[in-house]
Amino acid sequence: MKYIAKNGCNKVPLQGQIRVPGDKSISHRSIMFGSLAEGTSNISGFLEGEDSLNTLRAFQAMGVTIEGPVDGRVTIHGVGMNGLKAPSQALDLGNSGTSMRLLAGLLAGQSFDIELSGDVSLSKRPMKRVTDPLTQMGANIETAEGGKPPLKIKGGQSLNGFSYQMPMASAQVKSCCLLAGLYAQGNTCVTEPAVTRDHTERMLKAFGCDITVENSTACISGPAKLIAADIDVPADISSAAFFMVGASIAEGSDIVLQHVGINPTRTGIIDILKLMGADITMSNQQEVGGEPVADIRIKGAKLKGIQVPEALVPLAIDEFPVLFVAAACAEGETVITGAEELRVKESDRIQVMADGLLALGVDARPTDDGMVIQGRTDDSVFTGGSVHSHDDHRIAMAFAMASLRASGDIHIEDCDNVNTSFPDFAGLAESCGLSIQVTNE
Ligand code: S3P
Repeated sequence: MKYIAKNGCNKVPLQGQIRVPGDKSISHRSIMFGSLAEGTSNISGFLEGEDSLNTLRAFQAMGVTIEGPVDGRVTIHGVGMNGLKAPSQALDLGNSGTSMRLLAGLLAGQSFDIELSGDVSLSKRPMKRVTDPLTQMGANIETAEGGKPPLKIKGGQSLNGFSYQMPMASAQVKSCCLLAGLYAQGNTCVTEPAVTRDHTERMLKAFGCDITVENSTACISGPAKLIAADIDVPADISSAAFFMVGASIAEGSDIVLQHVGINPTRTGIIDILKLMGADITMSNQQEVGGEPVADIRIKGAKLKGIQVPEALVPLAIDEFPVLFVAAACAEGETVITGAEELRVKESDRIQVMADGLLALGVDARPTDDGMVIQGRTDDSVFTGGSVHSHDDHRIAMAFAMASLRASGDIHIEDCDNVNTSFPDFAGLAESCGLSIQVTNE
């Protein structure tokens, strides 16, 4: 699938009130914990995107009865911690790194052997970051060469709790260890080098698990059990981010994004955009199922270049593709450092974004751990042209937003994977003024 983002000549502002799809991280975890809990869990607002559907199918393949999703509603009949069954074949997790890394933790302590595989992009992503600590706990996991998927997990291993100092700021690694800790004997404590999203910790509490968090260390005492809970999944701030940037860079925009998750471990995008001068306000703040949500209003603003504080990087890690677009539209230089994790996401997001920005006439210089971008303030910051998303959903959507400040159409190749996190992105974008032609080339 290809997008032709056709806003160049129109100079449209973004307008209206929209609700972007459900949070991907929370959707994955709701299926995992609901499946392992005792009792029935009802989920609403579930993301019906390919990534979270892959998690749902994986648990169905392991014998869990799951109804839906229908309009974001899912009912999970939990089987308890020891109720999963061996699937008849390898679990194919598609493009989803979160599914593979969290499931590696959950499945390391099961009684049966299991294999986890993924698509071409996932098959290139590093898994040693999870297999190393799991091996220390007593797991037996084989990877392909270089620590890449598929993962072959041997059943019947007894796991022991341990204390782990994570070498990188990764919520997936933290969650993997904690989930293995549910099956381990004794305490499992994980310390992170910088704050990362804490949905696992919050949701485990909601499912009745006794997890403690002190400073940067989370501890679980195993073996543990989970009790069913109902989860209202907020709209995904990572999907909202495209519209936050789009509205900020398109003069005259005024848009409201409804019921967005504003967990403080995820709001780096708001803090960074505000440092750049964005006009962002929040209303209707409330707490749903242990997660804070709000309506977010964004108006067009004159942005300025900044040095992005490194402490904010893990809190906005998925938002950099579209933040690079914002930086291109900001007056002066923007410097991003400490973001080397971007090189091992669904694509190498530093290289792929720099290549695309250069192709559209932006002065963007990739570095080992970030990028230096010279922003401009003229109406047409980007030329029209053709860019590749490299099958990366967030790259595709970021360049669609660039079209709001382009002098011609932007052709974006390989957009199928937008469906992993944001089904009908083009339709929702259209409803607030962005014109994206979707073709099957
Ligand atoms: C996620 C954690 C992040 C993020 C990913 C979702 C999660 O990955 O990039 O999209 O749900 O835990 P890392 O933990 O590898 O940074």
